[in-house]
Amino acid sequence: MKVIIAKDYEEMSAKAFEIMAGVVKSNPEAVLGLATGSTPIGLYKNMIADHKENGTSYKAIKTVNLDEYEGLDYSSDQSYVYFMRDNLFDHIDIDLANTNIENGKASDAEKECERYNALLETLQQDIQILGIGSNGHIAFNEPGTAFGSVTHVVQLAESTIKDNSRMFASIDEVPKRAFTMGLKNIMNAKKIVILANGANKAKAVYGLVKGEVTEQVPASILQLHPDCTVICDEAAAALIK
Ligand code: GLP
Repeated sequence: MKVIIAKDYEEMSAKAFEIMAGVVKSNPEAVLGLATGSTPIGLYKNMIADHKENGTSYKAIKTVNLDEYEGLDYSSDQSYVYFMRDNLFDHIDIDLANTNIENGKASDAEKECERYNALLETLQQDIQILGIGSNGHIAFNEPGTAFGSVTHVVQLAESTIKDNSRMFASIDEVPKRAFTMGLKNIMNAKKIVILANGANKAKAVYGLVKGEVTEQVPASILQLHPDCTVICDEAAAALIK
């Protein structure tokens, strides 16, 4: 596990972009595993600026997203499918048909998980971007999730509902359940870049980098990945220095 401590959010985003750009330039047909949340927005801004200024093309790029709230789809601006279009896809030349995310409104959740797992079998991520929850979750794999898990529906932890409520009009509007790639699907990526900024992530970053590898801290599984880079700002790195 490689750890890069950036001085601030801008530097963290720029360093993540360097790695992302390397993957896209070396393989214009790469599969990008993408994440939502506020953390990767700076990376996506760098990708958009580079596309506009340097013409980097995403025409043949494919994407797989980590997770989606149950009950939400593009018609809701809180959905992750909306987030991805708003923060990245609508500003680059990607073919939306090449972008993939769980369908939060699937009538049969189990079938939807099976569909997504089968898709992931055919689309191994050349790079997987991750954020981290303050409780150490990655995607929506909450503490206690089996390391061998694949795409499934989860009951969100109270702390996650509280953390994510800042994106909703009120905490009551935050969905209680979500679809998420499992830890095994994430670990299948050839390369992983996990980003964290801000003091409220310091404890989770400690667990990710220096803690015991345990299902109680889902991100700790990344210590076992052969090509994982942690990029965090000074505040998030407070406990690992
Ligand atoms: C959500 C997402 C995660 C994300 C986490 C942190 O729960 N499912 O993928 O990493 O929040 O979000 P933020 O980047 O906004 O702190």
